[in-house]
Amino acid sequence: MSKLVTILNGPNLNLLGKREPEIYGHATLNDVEVDCTKVAAEFGLTCELKQSNIEGELVNMIQACRETSVGIIINPAAYTHTSVAILDALNTFDGPVLEIHISNVHKREEFRHHSFVSKRADASIIGMGVEGYALCMRHMGSLLS
Ligand code: DQA
Repeated sequence: MSKLVTILNGPNLNLLGKREPEIYGHATLNDVEVDCTKVAAEFGLTCELKQSNIEGELVNMIQACRETSVGIIINPAAYTHTSVAILDALNTFDGPVLEIHISNVHKREEFRHHSFVSKRADASIIGMGVEGYALCMRHMGSLLS
């Protein structure tokens, strides 16, 4: 069975490429999946990218990863700063969890400075644009090798 890494994305990231491009850039989630698939293959991994605008759906996706995935890369978007439910779900997952933020949240509004997910994440990449996803996948590959 090939080893699957799931890349989870929270609210409004379906609009990546169209949404506030001065902050988040012009690449789309599809571009992200293409880049991550290439990096994953270097490590003998496969990847699947998912997105939801709904907190409970993200919780369900994380729970499903317990059966399907060896690692999770997650950009919880706005739920980063609010969701104990997503943190609790990630705490039920045994493999590596990497947190990614496209923008440098620490340079932005105060309410973006706290992350519940960071309490569980094994590492975080923040402020490196969409390239951060592929960098996370590379780190995931070395953690799982
Ligand atoms: C984000 C940062 C969050 O504060 C914001 O709510 C997002 C995207 C990022 O990738 O930079 O939706 O997670």
